[in-house]
Amino acid sequence: MKQFFKNLFGGESTSLESLGAVGVDMHSHILPGLDDGADTLERSLELVQAMQQLGYRKLIMTPHIMSDFYRNTPEGIREKLELLRTAITEAGLQMELGCAAEYYLDEVFLEKLDNGDELLTFGDKYLLFETSFLNEPLNLREAIFKMRSKGYKPVMAHPERYSYFYGKFNDLIELREQGVLLQPNLNSLTGYYSPAAKTVIEKLIDNGLVDLVGSDVHSLKHIASLQKVLSTKYINKLLSLPLLNAQL
Ligand SMILES: [Fe+2]
Repeated sequence: MKQFFKNLFGGESTSLESLGAVGVDMHSHILPGLDDGADTLERSLELVQAMQQLGYRKLIMTPHIMSDFYRNTPEGIREKLELLRTAITEAGLQMELGCAAEYYLDEVFLEKLDNGDELLTFGDKYLLFETSFLNEPLNLREAIFKMRSKGYKPVMAHPERYSYFYGKFNDLIELREQGVLLQPNLNSLTGYYSPAAKTVIEKLIDNGLVDLVGSDVHSLKHIASLQKVLSTKYINKLLSLPLLNAQL
């Protein structure tokens, strides 16, 4: 009978209680007033509390750095990290906090790499980057080569959301073979972004091509979707992969 219901509802998956098995989130926009994420310290606190309730024990927060819109600097990001650390202590919240950044792949990013400017990383020199959602950047491979030759380990944020990879799954396999770690967003499991992104994250999981997972939380609406992730068909299969999150 149990097998019957398992087949009927189409999954190996049983609903999870929390995201405690992920433990460490390495992609969010929870730091206040730096980008399109939390705009005030109060909002940041709400999000930290919500992430704690979801089961996370550590948050590595990654504001956008994008030359056209978000000209964040390592100093400015660290300043906000200290502000939020103080606020969570005062609020009596238990959460380990760290920071890095989500670098948009543009000319300024390449210049920073060339000049040897400080880039914010997490863990073992992991460097989180994102690209245009629509067009494959002409300099994608050049940027990857540069990141790696400077000793960084490039991590591609939400590969399942780039439409230029749709119908070109082999390109993602190739990127990973070239040393790019792949970090899909948990919320793609619910179809939050699009049906296509859901299809790609499931294919990445089926092929064991996921290195890290991120929440990419900007606001409470992302938290509501993360609660739905707990009962998606693929969450258990995803968590059975050798993800790097817990060791960060
Ligand atoms: Fe992000």
